[in-house]
Amino acid sequence: MNVKPRDILNQIFPYKPGKPVGEVQRELGLENVIKLASNENNLGPSPKAIAAMREALAGVHEYPEGSGYYLVNAIAEKFGLAFDQIILGNGGNDLIELVVKTFAGPGDNVVSAHPSFIMYRIGAMIMDAEFRGIPLKDYRFDLPAIADAVDERTKVVFIANPNNPTGTIVTRAEVDDFLERVPDTVLVVLDEAYFDFVTAEDYPDALDYVKAGRPVMAMRSFSKNYGLAGLRLGWGAADAELAAAMHRIRQPFNANRLAQVAGVAALDDDEHLARSREMVAAGREQLYRGLDELGVKYVPSEANFVLVDLEREAAPVFEGLLTLGVVVRPMAGWGLPNALRVSVGKAEENDAFLRALATVLEK
Ligand SMILES: Cc1ncc(COP(=O)(O)O)c(C=O)c1O
Repeated sequence: MNVKPRDILNQIFPYKPGKPVGEVQRELGLENVIKLASNENNLGPSPKAIAAMREALAGVHEYPEGSGYYLVNAIAEKFGLAFDQIILGNGGNDLIELVVKTFAGPGDNVVSAHPSFIMYRIGAMIMDAEFRGIPLKDYRFDLPAIADAVDERTKVVFIANPNNPTGTIVTRAEVDDFLERVPDTVLVVLDEAYFDFVTAEDYPDALDYVKAGRPVMAMRSFSKNYGLAGLRLGWGAADAELAAAMHRIRQPFNANRLAQVAGVAALDDDEHLARSREMVAAGREQLYRGLDELGVKYVPSEANFVLVDLEREAAPVFEGLLTLGVVVRPMAGWGLPNALRVSVGKAEENDAFLRALATVLEK
């Protein structure tokens, strides 16, 4: 057989998810495994979303509503947008790929930072576009250096705000300056997957730029504060003409039936949103205190995870934590061999992580 994948695939390494928690549990003979590896919401989904999905289950023989009618209307109303400015996705991941497919092709380039969310690079490479990952400065997106890297073949800039895996933000003033410097032929995507967890006063809301008619796309996810990661649901907002271009090539049903009803219900569940936010704000402080006590360095975060810098190879510590039933994310694959990323969980989970870390570091 002589069938061959495209050459570019030799340069794309697949996203490496952790082992299923059930498997880790079985292998280690542990009763309880704590997962703080994927920046999920350990409070679970909104109870309102669960109820809405139960009701919708008997209807899954029908295709989803192709325009996302009810969910898009709910988003439009909640965030003050027009229906045709909004596009749904099978998670933010789907939208990232869709943006690149819509705006960049071979010979073009896509600019972002390194290390940042891996899908920006993969999205560019799928399209045979060049990816420029500009090094972070003090763990933050270096917007002046990114502006310098933009040229006449740049079609999209991705700014993860907050950034994954560092949890840092860029400020409104920095984004304002950046938009002044970058030509308006470039679509600037502000990926706000962790929007709800930010407490910094000078954090910009990407929707303000969209509403002001700037060449900006705002991207949000239902996977984090809404606790719906398993359903795969995200949305973006941009100028209606840009959104229309993306609609042309998206999968017709890229937001599934259960995700749509759950999304509508979750948007309306202020109590669950507030509880999730509080859990993360308190959990971050708890982790900082515990890490300070252990003398372990970390990057203060505006998201639901904290990047921990062990100042030595992190892989053995990751393995040690795993044997104690705590799963976090090793960062070697992101070019940070001394770092672990730990998601903020419930108080008792954060505590279990800190105790396990103390045990492993003592050895
Ligand atoms: C910065 C960033 N953007 C987008 C996503 C995509 O999230 P999802 O596809 O679950 O909506 C993630 C997920 O971890 C992320 O960290």
